[in-house]
Amino acid sequence: MNILIVGATSGIGRALFEKLAKEDNTVAVVGRRQCLLDELCQRNPEKIFAEKADVTNIEEVSAVIERLAGKVGRLDLAIVCAGTGELNAALDYEREVPAIQTNVVGWTYVVDALYRRFEQQGQGHLVAITSVGGLRGEPNAPAYSATKAYQINYLEALRKKAFKGGKKVVVTDIRPGLTDTAMAKGEGLFWVMPVEKVASQILSAIQKKKGVAYVTRRWHVLALLNKNVPWSLYKRM
Ligand SMILES: NC(=O)c1ccc[n+]([C@@H]2O[C@H](COP(=O)([O-])OP(=O)(O)OC[C@H]3O[C@@H](n4cnc5c(N)ncnc54)[C@H](OP(=O)(O)O)[C@@H]3O)[C@@H](O)[C@H]2O)c1
Repeated sequence: MNILIVGATSGIGRALFEKLAKEDNTVAVVGRRQCLLDELCQRNPEKIFAEKADVTNIEEVSAVIERLAGKVGRLDLAIVCAGTGELNAALDYEREVPAIQTNVVGWTYVVDALYRRFEQQGQGHLVAITSVGGLRGEPNAPAYSATKAYQINYLEALRKKAFKGGKKVVVTDIRPGLTDTAMAKGEGLFWVMPVEKVASQILSAIQKKKGVAYVTRRWHVLALLNKNVPWSLYKRM
């Protein structure tokens, strides 16, 4: 397969890269940390391509997606992992801006560009990593939970668009619970999952072409409880 991973220099994207690059795939990766990108493509310059881009810089990321797609050829699968978020109980506006710029403004450009590419090709599989954190408003990280809710609804819109248009474009929304990466912040975190396990379950959901997948299964149960708990109880939790 020809695969593009946006946000593959660390965490979940990196773990997915490690697994996908071991198979007979051609993989293109995007991130901002050049030294990590160099390290990845030096492993197999024939089958791994990497370019630096910040998804909040629309011109830059647009050019990079075009160049990488030119190098790998027809894209079969694109996985958008790039994301950020800070704890911000104090509602410091400056701390909210990167999440909005990355998870909403830049992210929208990237998923739209990839969806349109797959539509033009006549098929393709678009995957984005959202979060169980997008199911309810979270006072410790309001922008993060709100941007993830945006992504969840946006992907549903794209899934419906693909269905109604009769397109062979698959759109998968992956909703992980807490995962052991730089992104998992805060005190007293519980059920933090190893990134390896999360990546394996994500790949299994991708293989099954699921519309929505929670990882891990234990987090699926917790997510459904959290989503359905009434406000009168949720506000006290
Ligand atoms: N960890 C968790 O508990 C958890 C739970 C649910 C969902 N998620 C979601 O999983 C995704 C991956 O996060 P992670 O946990 O793997 O954290 P991570 O290790 O911080 O990975 C984030 C990745 O996104 C890239 N990235 C961030 N901002 C970017 C930008 N402006 N432009 C381009 N690339 C950018 C980073 O690369 P560079 O720094 O090199 O740019 C890195 O490769 C995120 O969308 C996050 O919301 C995480």
